[in-house]
Amino acid sequence: MNTNDLATVACAMAPAGRGILAADESTGTIKKRFDSINLESTEDNRRAYRDLLFTTEGVEEFISGVILFDETLRQKALDGTPFPKLLKSKGIVPGIKPDKGAKPLAGFPGELVTEGLDGLRERLEEYHDLGAQFAKWRAVITIGDGIPTSFCLDANAHALARYAALCQETGLVPIVEPEVLMDGDHTIERCEEVTTTTLERLFFALHEHRVVLEGTVLKPNMVISGKGCPRQASAEEIAEATVRCFRRTVPAAVPGIVFLSGGQSPEEATVNLNAMNAMYDDLPWELSFSYGRALQEPVLKAWKGEVANVPAAQKAYYHRAKLNGAARYGKYTPEMEGAA
Ligand code: 13P
Repeated sequence: MNTNDLATVACAMAPAGRGILAADESTGTIKKRFDSINLESTEDNRRAYRDLLFTTEGVEEFISGVILFDETLRQKALDGTPFPKLLKSKGIVPGIKPDKGAKPLAGFPGELVTEGLDGLRERLEEYHDLGAQFAKWRAVITIGDGIPTSFCLDANAHALARYAALCQETGLVPIVEPEVLMDGDHTIERCEEVTTTTLERLFFALHEHRVVLEGTVLKPNMVISGKGCPRQASAEEIAEATVRCFRRTVPAAVPGIVFLSGGQSPEEATVNLNAMNAMYDDLPWELSFSYGRALQEPVLKAWKGEVANVPAAQKAYYHRAKLNGAARYGKYTPEMEGAA
């Protein structure tokens, strides 16, 4: 695939008014989500849940892409249509999570590095053949006493850049996701400092690995107070700090920035995205969403694993997607919450 084709797909992943659903929970993570509704994590239940999400009528008005896990990319809707084909028929770009998860970084207590580079070229080629048009790799950066270390930031930036270069060679748009965790009692200032350094190191590595930025999408955390910090920053402060950080670190050639929700509640994730789009109309990149938990929490609660609840669960998903679609224009209001 040439650079223009990659850039076209990257733009299609963050168009006006729409964003990405992260439905790429690994088998271990989806088990945790199902535990919360007392549902056994069987392959059938996982398929039924993803079917519910992907067949929600009209949601493509607000959802431009979906990230899938290996198992889901190979599964089919009830009528026999493979999920990637079903999504494409609705104008939704299918993507894949090819990383093997964040593992302890040897010699660096409390820090993680994402594995999965071995055999990645071959896996990406297969995913491309199965219909994926983009991929996502998540690196995890922890804030704590004396961490993150410079070494950890570089190890993760290097892995993200090697992954991104392999994606582009295969014709897949890489989503690069360096997530600075909101776990901890750190201030928003500390989060800004760490996120700034993380992104500086990442874009340096992407440049060194000859990654084409026009065909790359960034999936970062918002700059936000740690969960345990006594002073929680307002949406306006989060918007200001996040945009300031990106202006300093993210080249204008990157077409889209799609946030992870990272443990924010569905409402918080929408309010904070909305604040950024309401306060700034002169940014070089689209500011959008690629939420997992913040889109799916209300869906799981409504579904509870019961066939009879599928319509209610689809309604909850459509509603949350619509609210985030409004936040893409800075036009969300809390009154819209109750209007499902
Ligand atoms: P959350 O929005 O739940 O953080 O998930 C997004 C994601 O894809 C993490 O890799």
